[in-house]
Amino acid sequence: MPFRTRYTGLIERYRDRLPIHDDTRIISLGEGNTPLIRLNNIPRIIGKDVDIYVKYEGLNPTGSFKDRGMTMAVTKAVEEGSRAIICASTGNTSAAAAAYAARAGITAFVLIPDGKIAMGKLAQAMMHGSVVIQIKGNFDDGMRLVKEVATEAPVTIVNSINPYRLQGQKTAAFEIVEELGRAPDYHCLPVGNAGNITAHWIGYCEYSSASGDHVTGACAFCEGHCKYAGGAVVGNRPHMVGYQAAGSAPFMRGHMVDNPETVATAIRIGHPQSWDYAWKVKEESGGWFDECSDEKILAAQKLLAEKEGVFCEPASATSLAGALADIASGKIPEGSTIVCTLTGHGLKDPDTAIKQSTAPMLTVEAELDAVKSAILDNMT
Ligand code: F0G
Repeated sequence: MPFRTRYTGLIERYRDRLPIHDDTRIISLGEGNTPLIRLNNIPRIIGKDVDIYVKYEGLNPTGSFKDRGMTMAVTKAVEEGSRAIICASTGNTSAAAAAYAARAGITAFVLIPDGKIAMGKLAQAMMHGSVVIQIKGNFDDGMRLVKEVATEAPVTIVNSINPYRLQGQKTAAFEIVEELGRAPDYHCLPVGNAGNITAHWIGYCEYSSASGDHVTGACAFCEGHCKYAGGAVVGNRPHMVGYQAAGSAPFMRGHMVDNPETVATAIRIGHPQSWDYAWKVKEESGGWFDECSDEKILAAQKLLAEKEGVFCEPASATSLAGALADIASGKIPEGSTIVCTLTGHGLKDPDTAIKQSTAPMLTVEAELDAVKSAILDNMT
């Protein structure tokens, strides 16, 4: 008898809530089940009585939340007989697609913006043996090309327009509700294509519906793939708050943005694919969108790393940067329970981290006295 049950990924864990057959071959790397970490120091530093948790999605197998969606998308692609998958990506989707394709023994084609993805992500796509196609354009150009080429070549799109992606990603909301024993009051996420904020809302709705809290109707989000009965659900769901980088904020402008720019390259997206869904999520949940400057994003990334020991990539820190601004203004009131999703690991983008780091780095002679004075001079 095994000592305890081995965790084998989110499809096995939530099999009864996902569109999976008994005999489906599951392509998994043990994704999901990520830590929900309560911030101990930051609430004290900002002097506010709030309970902030970070859902550390950077601890998924390829270092981002994309693995939740990719296990489902690749499992279904293989089930449907596909031999190749394709995506456009700012880096994390391509890393996940490459890894899960390798696991499944199929080919991944990834279109990435030339020179605009973080080094760790490029390394992943290359190491997992995907076919990397750098395009002289941005993510939005890549997305348009992927949609066009998929009508002419035998490839399955695994961007979040693939409905199975959102099905996998909704499980993050299940985990949060199960761990907290309720939904948070506010759930804050960085927004690019707005697939993840939509997926979380599906998850919360489905969970509260499964708890008997719902009114009947049809789920507006998932084309019948989820088991959410839908409609106006009462209680047990958070306000969904989506934050964008200021240079790349179509939801704030109210229209698509050409030539988006931000240090948070993962969310350098001007034409979000889940545009309509995201507006619906905002309305249904009583949430909102806001924007953060690159400066504030990097400051939040650093604060988390220095004061809590949690290292996320710049795009991920947008959720905390936005939440801190809304807590400071009182829009998120004291007494609230808040979850911020940290979508990707800090090691994805070492260049940006090192560039903005102010931690002392000393070079001394390899002698006891030199090391000793370096320590004594820097004691706090
Ligand atoms: N955070 C990170 C680290 C991301 O990689 C992404 C999206 C997002 C947030 C935004 O999520 O698009 O669902 O609103 N990255 C995609 C990619 C575009 O290609 O890796 P969203």
